[in-house]
Amino acid sequence: MIRSALMNVMTAAALKAGRGLRRDFGEVENLQVSVKGPGDFVSAADRRAEKILFEELSKARPGYGFVLEETGLVEGPDKSHVWYIDPLDGTTNFLHGLPIFAISIGLQREGQIVAGLVYNPATEAMYVAEKGQGAYLNNRRLRVAARRDMGEALVGCGIPHLGKPGHARFKMELSAVMTRASNLRRLGAAALDLCFVASGAYDGFWERDLKPWDLAAGILIIREAGGFVTDAEGGQEILAKGSVCAGNETIHSQLLALIRSAD
Ligand code: IPD
Ligand code: CA
Repeated sequence: MIRSALMNVMTAAALKAGRGLRRDFGEVENLQVSVKGPGDFVSAADRRAEKILFEELSKARPGYGFVLEETGLVEGPDKSHVWYIDPLDGTTNFLHGLPIFAISIGLQREGQIVAGLVYNPATEAMYVAEKGQGAYLNNRRLRVAARRDMGEALVGCGIPHLGKPGHARFKMELSAVMTRASNLRRLGAAALDLCFVASGAYDGFWERDLKPWDLAAGILIIREAGGFVTDAEGGQEILAKGSVCAGNETIHSQLLALIRSAD
């Protein structure tokens, strides 16, 4: 486990916001059957979690900037530090009562992600990493899967939802990957998907059109678990381009070649 002051601050904020989300997730099931559904309730839960994270992290590290999913950019006097925060990644899952959602917190220092945390309050899975310190799931050190054969690989992906661009391209990529990989998954919470690569549950993962708050924490968690992660062109502009391709060194390069060949 990582016992730094910074990680204490991040885990305390995530646990506090997570308690609220867990309570609200219990409520969602009751609202499922109403005609209007739990949509407004979930947006309120999302905003409450974001407020707690913002307040707790601002108190502990005054002056750092923020990029928050709901509020957007909040500049701080300290220009070298930025928090990237998704208070509820996997909103659709949460809305439908599926316990696959998470809080994601990434800290960037001088342009580099130096700490990441992804916490699923429903399962109490807490993934953390600090640059140079390794990646952990609760108290267990993480390591990416060792499989090298795409024919044995379980590959996660993101499917663009209705109204999102990239449906045609995704179908080509899907067709390229599904003819080579053993099996595919789409679990619907990108921050957690990245952690599933770090823990070796997935052998690889790719998705496009993501936001920096979906990606910042998970990228570091994968790297600290010994994995490879790039944008969908194989470069390092993951946050700027919003695309990601990940795995161990071998699966990453095979997956990258497959999605690039689908262009
Ligand atoms: C979404 C999830 C999903 C991904 C979407 C994201 P949200 O985040 O990460 O897996 O496919 O592109 O927007 O909206 O649930 O925070
Ligand atoms: Ca998200």
